[in-house]
Amino acid sequence: MISRRAAITGFAACAATPVLAQAPLKPREEEALALRAHRKGLVYGAALASRHLQDAVFGEIFAEECGMLVPEWEAKWRTLQPQPGRFDFTAVDRLIDFARRRNLLARGHTLVWHQAMPDWLAEAAVPALAARTLVEHIGPVVARYRGRMHSWDVVNEALEPRDDRADGLRITPWLKAMGPRYLDAAFRAARAADPDAMLVLNEYGLDYARPEDERRRRALVQLLAALRGRGVPVDAVGIQAHLVAGGPLFDARLFRAFLAELADLGLKILITELDVTDRHLPADIGPRDRQAADHVARYVETALDERAVIAVLTWGLADRFSWLNQSEGRRRTDGLKSRGLPLDDDLNRKPIWAALARAFDAAPPR
Ligand code: XIL
Repeated sequence: MISRRAAITGFAACAATPVLAQAPLKPREEEALALRAHRKGLVYGAALASRHLQDAVFGEIFAEECGMLVPEWEAKWRTLQPQPGRFDFTAVDRLIDFARRRNLLARGHTLVWHQAMPDWLAEAAVPALAARTLVEHIGPVVARYRGRMHSWDVVNEALEPRDDRADGLRITPWLKAMGPRYLDAAFRAARAADPDAMLVLNEYGLDYARPEDERRRRALVQLLAALRGRGVPVDAVGIQAHLVAGGPLFDARLFRAFLAELADLGLKILITELDVTDRHLPADIGPRDRQAADHVARYVETALDERAVIAVLTWGLADRFSWLNQSEGRRRTDGLKSRGLPLDDDLNRKPIWAALARAFDAAPPR
C-alpha cells in the first residue's frame, strides 16, 4: 500500500520513474473528515502551529482533512503581546493566511487565560490597571482578525472548583484584580472589536462521571446562566475534551443531559480540543488504537446527538505534533509515543480517524 505521504509526494516522482508513472495514483477512496462533517452542517478542524506548515505535505493533508484551524499556542497572550504595547502577529498572520488560501475557517485561542501570561502582566494585571490592560489586548487582537475568525475563545479555563469559591471561579490575577466582572469586560471588548465572531467560554474537565467533573459542570452552568442573565455576549461554550481512555467512567446519559442543559441556555457548543491519552492502555498498537477509538466514538456520538453542537476540533491532526507527548500526566510512562489523534506520525489515518468519520456520517443534520 502506498503511504499517504508517498501518495502525495508521488506526483513529483511520476515523471522520473516510469514504474510509478504507469501505476496511476489511486484517488483516496475515503472522503476526508471535513467533507463528512460539512455534509451534516458541522465543522471538523484541528489545532495547528505555524512551524508545522514548513512540511508542505502535512499542509496539504491538513487542508484536505480539516475545515477549520485553530492556533495551538501562537494566539496566546505571551506570543501576541510579549512586551506591553508591542504586538507580534507574525505567526498568527501566517496561519490565517494559510486558512484563507486553503479556504479553511479559523478560530482564535485564546484571549484570557491564567497560563501563557507574559511576566510583565504581574505589574499590569493589578487592580489599578487590569481593566485597561485587558481591553488594550483584546481590542487590537480581535480587531486585527475581524471578519476572519469564526469564533474566539474569549476566556479559557475560568473555573477551578478546588479554589473553593462558591461560584467555582479560578483565582487568577484577573479575578483578584477585577472580581468576576473580568469575564464581562473580556466578552464585551471582544464583541466591540468583532461583532460577527462567535464568542466562546472554553473549559476542560467536564467529560466524566467523576465528582470533580460534576462540580465543574455545575459551576459552568451556573456561570453561563449568570453571564447570560446580565447580558454578557457569550454565544457558545467550548468543551475541551482532553479524554482519558481506560480511565474514569464516561456516562453517556449524564454527559448528554449536560449538553442539553447548555443548549437550553441558548448556547451553541463546540468540542474544541479533542484528543485521548492512551497512557492506561496496552503497549500493543492493535488493541491500543481500538480502545482509544472506541472511547472517542462513544464520546463524539453522544456529543453529536445534541444539535447545539456545531463543531468538533481535535488538538492537532497527527500524533507527530501532539502535546500529549509533552504533558505530564498524559504521556505514557513506558516511553512509547502517544497515539491520541486521528493520524499517526506518518500521516496515515488511524482508528480514531475512522471513529470520527463514522460519527459524522451518523450525526443528525444541523
Ligand atoms: C497547550 C499546547 O498544546 C502546548 O503546545 C502548549 O505548550 C501549552 O498549551 N488546554 C488549552 C490549550 O486550552 O491551550 C493547551 O494547549 C492544552 C490544554
